[in-house]
Amino acid sequence: MSTLLRILRFTRSLTPYYLGIMIAAAVVTGAGIAVPFITGAATDTVVAAVGSVAEGNGVPETAIRTVLLLALALLAASLVETVVSNVGGYWGDVMSAKMRTILSTRYFEQLLALPQRYFDGELTGTVVARLNRSIAEVTNFMKSFSNMFVTMLMTTVAVLVISAWHYWPLALLLAVAYPVYLWLTALTSRKWQRIEDDKNRYVDEASGRFSEVVGQMRVVKSFVRERGELSHFSTRFDETVRLTREQSMHWHRMDALRRGALNVIFFGLYVIIFVRTVTGHFTPGEMVMLVQLMAMAREPVQNLSWVVDTAQRAVAGSRSYFEVMDLDPAAVDGGGARPEEAPAAEVEEGPRVPAVAFDDVSFSYDGHEDVLRHISFEVRAGERVAFVGESGGGKTTLMNLLLGLYAARSGSIRVAGAGNDLASLRRSIAVVFQDPSLFSGTIAENIAYGRPDATREEIEAVAGRAAVDGFVAKLPNGYDTVVGERGMKLSGGQKQRIAVARAMLKDAPLLVLDEATSALDTKSERLVQQGLDDLMSDRTSLIIAHRLSTIAEVDRIITLRDGRVDEIGTPAELATSGGIYAELLALQHSASKADRKRLKRFGVVL
Ligand SMILES: Nc1ncnc2c1ncn2[C@@H]1O[C@H](COP(=O)(O)OP(=O)(O)O)[C@@H](O)[C@H]1O
Ligand SMILES: [Mg+2]
Repeated sequence: MSTLLRILRFTRSLTPYYLGIMIAAAVVTGAGIAVPFITGAATDTVVAAVGSVAEGNGVPETAIRTVLLLALALLAASLVETVVSNVGGYWGDVMSAKMRTILSTRYFEQLLALPQRYFDGELTGTVVARLNRSIAEVTNFMKSFSNMFVTMLMTTVAVLVISAWHYWPLALLLAVAYPVYLWLTALTSRKWQRIEDDKNRYVDEASGRFSEVVGQMRVVKSFVRERGELSHFSTRFDETVRLTREQSMHWHRMDALRRGALNVIFFGLYVIIFVRTVTGHFTPGEMVMLVQLMAMAREPVQNLSWVVDTAQRAVAGSRSYFEVMDLDPAAVDGGGARPEEAPAAEVEEGPRVPAVAFDDVSFSYDGHEDVLRHISFEVRAGERVAFVGESGGGKTTLMNLLLGLYAARSGSIRVAGAGNDLASLRRSIAVVFQDPSLFSGTIAENIAYGRPDATREEIEAVAGRAAVDGFVAKLPNGYDTVVGERGMKLSGGQKQRIAVARAMLKDAPLLVLDEATSALDTKSERLVQQGLDDLMSDRTSLIIAHRLSTIAEVDRIITLRDGRVDEIGTPAELATSGGIYAELLALQHSASKADRKRLKRFGVVL
């Protein structure tokens, strides 16, 4: 229940809607409660008239006028109900749409704030499925609750007061019915909710896998895994069938019990009403009124279990919603709390300052095995530094730490001039990732991803430098060609060139290239390299290169071995030091298969 209060607090801006819906419901309920009184009065008038005719006194003059007026009153009550319930329904629809918007937006905002590590452990599809389910359930509940709560409350109170007024034992029996029903419902709830959680877990798992499979259909097909994937999927859903059986059996068994109990109580009520009418304590009109009132009293009691049912779903849904909302982005292990110090004043000169310093940095992804150990190095402003190490040696990880995507386990990383928050740090770094990923949209939009306000001229200028222009010229729609999910498919090399252009347009003082040209053929690589050389000429650059010729041109090389810095030096120094770089140089002249293989392990080609 407390989670539902949180939802209310969360969506405080919707209060006018909640109130509007409740007021509408109150009016509708009022009109509904008027009906038994009107029909009761009509019955008494009719009975009197019939009696008067039977005694030979003829139809009393006023009787027809009275019943006509009462019929008009009935019409008025139903018209009010019709109009107001539709107004309330409209408010309800708008309210749910707004609530959906608020909850979804907040969720997305929270996901965007969560650190990379959170996403390492989550299946994309699961994140999405969970969002949709939770929000649908919460919204559904809030809508029906604000609609029904007032009705239930008003009907209950009215029925209790009116029946107490006529004969207190009626009210007493009713007063027993409500708590008994609630108690039996509550008995059902805990088990129901536990099973619902399990069901949701299976569904989330299946949906997560589903979207993974859809996203990588080529892999699935080429390994002929369709049957395997299908059975993984259907097993999860079969589980939900099994759980639903158990859950529903439990629920309906309990429902039969509590409705049975209710039937017995209402049996007592009707017996009292009938007998007291026969004995002359109630007029026929009162009897009609009370019988209708009892029928009305039944409704809130039964709705109660429906409310409890949707409330349980909503509680389960909002629980997984708030599980994500409650994560403190800064506190998620390896989160935004990057141990960052104020930029050192002495290196801060001119607009293109940054220099990078790693000081005794250790890091592990899983908390057990360190991927990086005691890494220390400095990169001076304007310097070009290449990182060399075996594949899987932690080069990309080093760049992840630099970007603040993960926090170092120990040690500190300093980027001069980058400010103290992650956003400004990241704004000062342009990066080309090892695996270039683009968004659905046009080529121009993708290039301008980091600077949506860039002009077409600026976009085309960087496109030229990144050798994007060549293949774009051949497309009928040029830079407006839609790529990605629903558009044209690009080759790895084409994507990589767009990613390079994207980084170039960002024009940040610090450049990080993680095997930025690895997917390119020799010819286009030469073109892109020319553009990259221009870009690097006046800024600090950290390069993970896969070509020895590129590495040979940097200012300094840092080699990594077993997660540690092995050597730091100029290409000339390291060429003769007998380390990794020297070994690679020696290997490049060898034609032996084993040596080629060794080169490959360093991701190096000639
Ligand atoms: N997100 C991650 N979660 C857990 N382990 C990871 C993750 N990314 C990389 N690793 C592991 O860290 C090690 C270094 O990877 P990486 O930095 O990508 O190497 P390189 O870029 O030098 O090829 C590898 O053993 C890899 O399996
Ligand atoms: Mg890598």
